[in-house]
Amino acid sequence: MEAGSKNTGSAGGAEKKLLSVQNLRVSYHTYAGEVQSVRGVSFDLEEGSALAIVGESGCGKSVTARSIMGLIKPPAGEIKPGSRIFYRGEDIVQYDRKKLEQYRGGECAIVFQDALAALNPTMRVGKQIMENLIAHRHMGKQEALREAVEMLRRVGIPEPEKRVRQYPHQFSGGMRQRVMIAIAFACDPKLLICDEPTTALDVTIQGQILDIIKDLQKKHRTSVILITHDLGVVANIAREIAVMYAGMIVERGSSEDIFYRPRHPYTWALIRSVPRLDDENKAELESIPGTPPDLIDPPKGCPFCTRCRYCMDICREEMPENADFGAGHTASCWLHHPLAPKVEMPDYEKEDRQ
Ligand SMILES: Nc1ncnc2c1ncn2[C@@H]1O[C@H](COP(=O)(O)OP(=O)(O)O)[C@@H](O)[C@H]1O
Ligand code: SF4
Ligand SMILES: [Mg+2]
Repeated sequence: MEAGSKNTGSAGGAEKKLLSVQNLRVSYHTYAGEVQSVRGVSFDLEEGSALAIVGESGCGKSVTARSIMGLIKPPAGEIKPGSRIFYRGEDIVQYDRKKLEQYRGGECAIVFQDALAALNPTMRVGKQIMENLIAHRHMGKQEALREAVEMLRRVGIPEPEKRVRQYPHQFSGGMRQRVMIAIAFACDPKLLICDEPTTALDVTIQGQILDIIKDLQKKHRTSVILITHDLGVVANIAREIAVMYAGMIVERGSSEDIFYRPRHPYTWALIRSVPRLDDENKAELESIPGTPPDLIDPPKGCPFCTRCRYCMDICREEMPENADFGAGHTASCWLHHPLAPKVEMPDYEKEDRQ
């Protein structure tokens, strides 16, 4: 079975989940060739839970997000045959334009990294929140205005009565991201996708924004997919983590499994690249040596083989099987085959001291 393409449930089983992505494959057709951005991604998301998708830039996180939002535009973008995205048991890949618009407007919302590009520069922020409240929560104008002020207060914007009348350019980066979150929650989405919501912000503000998302998620019982290249930001918010590499999920598990019992050499490398609080010399933080493979011509074996210090002959030849460690923890790596040498996660701290 192809790595990451393991079926996590039948269409029937998918009905109990809010979202069930099954063998999602997405390509972009470019002059250089077919970029295989997503290559067999499968995961489920239960109602009210939070999943983080983590991986380096270019591994297919945003394309996965766009697919779930129904935003892959043909003819350049193509969701490949056999891909399924069940939302409450219905395959949105099969939706026509009208049904997709209803789904996008009523069920899911997305917060992007770049709030300035996503906000309407000519409209007061209050009005942008109110529009969603009126359209999706059927409020009258006065009620929507009161609620818009309240939402700005809830996302931690000082003097919300004054700020509600201001334009996006009058807000700092962190404040604009808060406005985006308020707008997204004004739709009362069942599913919120945050695509690198804090990447452009400094560390303290990152933490505040993630806390706001977490609070609102709990209060509204919203299901959240948090997308980031930084494993360091997900620990407090996501119960489950999917690690993506070269268009595939290479490891998946609870937050504890990924941080304390990681099984994939790529996850080991990612963990090593997270700054530790006690790090005295943050400047020496390891980035992962080498570059990800070309998605126009990906390797036939393990996509990580060119950068993996444990690479064996079989890794170059065949796609690794998905090893199952129980309780939803899986990793696609040949090291877990009975014939492979036994390797533990390296103790990097010990190595560093040597
Ligand atoms: N519109 C597009 N046209 C061509 N290639 C694209 C397009 N969008 C994304 N890709 C390619 O798909 C791959 C995955 O991209 P993306 O999902 O944006 O990565 P991430 O969000 O993980 O940084 C990359 O190789 C990227 O170059
Ligand atoms: S050991 Fe082999 S299969 Fe596992 S990550 Fe390294 S190259 Fe891939
Ligand atoms: Mg992205």
